[in-house]
Amino acid sequence: MSDWTEGYVTDVGYTFGYYRELNPLHAKIALQDYNVACPEVQTACELGFGQGISINIHAAASKTQWYGTDFIPEQADFARQMAKASGADVHIFNDSFEAFAKRKDLPDFDFIGLHGIWSWISNNNRRIIVNFIKKKLKPGGVLYISYNTLPGWADFVSLRHIMSLYMDDMADPKQNRLEQISGCVDFLDRFLSTNPAFAQANPFVRTRLQRLHKEDAHYLAHEYFNRDWLPMHFTDMTQWLQDTGMDYICSTHYLDHVNQFNISRDQEKLLNSIHPFLFRETVRDFMVNRQFRAEYWVKNTRELNKKEKEKILQTQRYILVEPRSDITLKVPGPAGSLDLDPAQYEPVLDLMADYRPRTLRQMEKELESNSIKFPQLYQAIIVLMGKRCIEPVQDKEDVSQVKQDTDKLNSFLCQQVLAKEDIHALASPMTGGGISLDIIDQIFVEISRQGNDSPQQWVEYAWQQLSSVGRQVIKDGTPLDSEEESLAELHLRAEMFMQKRLPILNVLGIA
Ligand SMILES: C[S@@+](CC[C@H](N)C(=O)[O-])C[C@H]1O[C@@H](n2cnc3c(N)ncnc32)[C@H](O)[C@@H]1O
Repeated sequence: MSDWTEGYVTDVGYTFGYYRELNPLHAKIALQDYNVACPEVQTACELGFGQGISINIHAAASKTQWYGTDFIPEQADFARQMAKASGADVHIFNDSFEAFAKRKDLPDFDFIGLHGIWSWISNNNRRIIVNFIKKKLKPGGVLYISYNTLPGWADFVSLRHIMSLYMDDMADPKQNRLEQISGCVDFLDRFLSTNPAFAQANPFVRTRLQRLHKEDAHYLAHEYFNRDWLPMHFTDMTQWLQDTGMDYICSTHYLDHVNQFNISRDQEKLLNSIHPFLFRETVRDFMVNRQFRAEYWVKNTRELNKKEKEKILQTQRYILVEPRSDITLKVPGPAGSLDLDPAQYEPVLDLMADYRPRTLRQMEKELESNSIKFPQLYQAIIVLMGKRCIEPVQDKEDVSQVKQDTDKLNSFLCQQVLAKEDIHALASPMTGGGISLDIIDQIFVEISRQGNDSPQQWVEYAWQQLSSVGRQVIKDGTPLDSEEESLAELHLRAEMFMQKRLPILNVLGIA
């Protein structure tokens, strides 16, 4: 492998994921939950943007000026194509982190984000990123960072060692990387079938191996087959950032903000008896066997005062983004799913089921006749955001100003969806971020945006599009073989799209 990669897999492109944690509006909402001020984000930066879906969606859907880099040329090219299509204010670079950090043409940033980078790069690159944050993040600015965590990956660290050795010593040099990876996974199968004592002591590695089999090979290449793969404890992360003036604020996952969905009463009691924050947070990670942390940090934190907090309650709007009838009152918990209290959640969901944005104070007023108290309403909104049913909405003027750019980006993405297997999101001017949609819904969006409102024609168009590239219709995770079954499924999907999804996508400014 040549030097510029520093051991990073660069001969296989990454997946086309979208990550809403990189949307500065979500940072604002999560930080206010911890009473911390978020700056108005005028300049933002994404390090290692991969295929560039998130950076382009956020640039098109908001007035924030975005900068970002990724050193795989094909990925940066695709990111530039999206930027050209939307016409948004986004500056895409094809630099290594080292070269990017040395640029003289970058502004200082209100927000720096890196998703899926930290655990997969060398210590040298970690140092470069820390120095970049130190130098380029403005006081009050927000850092979003995610990384693989211990203790959740402890058992896999040793299996990953075997995988690295296999690639160095056993992989067939005549094969391409994806074939070598498949050979490695086959080897692990054979190895575990001999019932090694390692697997007896660490039985969960068998489940991990089953999961590897189901993963996209491009994802596997970037996730496990870089030279560097370093899950770390939260305390190690805090060591890395200790000289930057950054404070850890919170998890970006709203459900992490609520103890009852994560730990038992006894565990909560023990945690409450621990005062040093780092120790408490680490014990909590052990309680949930945390594998992945996604965090917001702030440089020179400032607390919100009462007036600012009230202003957010009066001005920040939220909208329901999932069909009301599809929303269950369940959330994932440590031992299976947990039930939400219908008396707390049903009235909120019913109120929001007209898909009109509302502030928390408006909701409070409209729910006056119910017995819901404000703290319950507030918690319901946090939890429903955690369930991805509700999204924050950006200011009205911003919504209209960015609509043209999101329309252009969405047309481009809809045209790409057949070629790029896993583009799962379109840009919403309303939320300033992405909304998840699978390939079939994206095809329906594309044709309905052309003014066609006949579900019969949507089906014909979708079938013709999918068949032209040999893509099968998937039902409940299973590809359908016959045309008859495929068309029947597409009809069902078109009906559902028209009745449930389209009205929401209209409000979100996507369809
Ligand atoms: C696991 S991928 C994550 C991509 C993207 N953030 C996402 O989550 O979809 C890591 C990305 O970091 C980029 N990368 C790794 N090392 C880099 C470096 N030294 N300089 C620039 N980009 C780098 C890779 O090209 C890759 O696209």
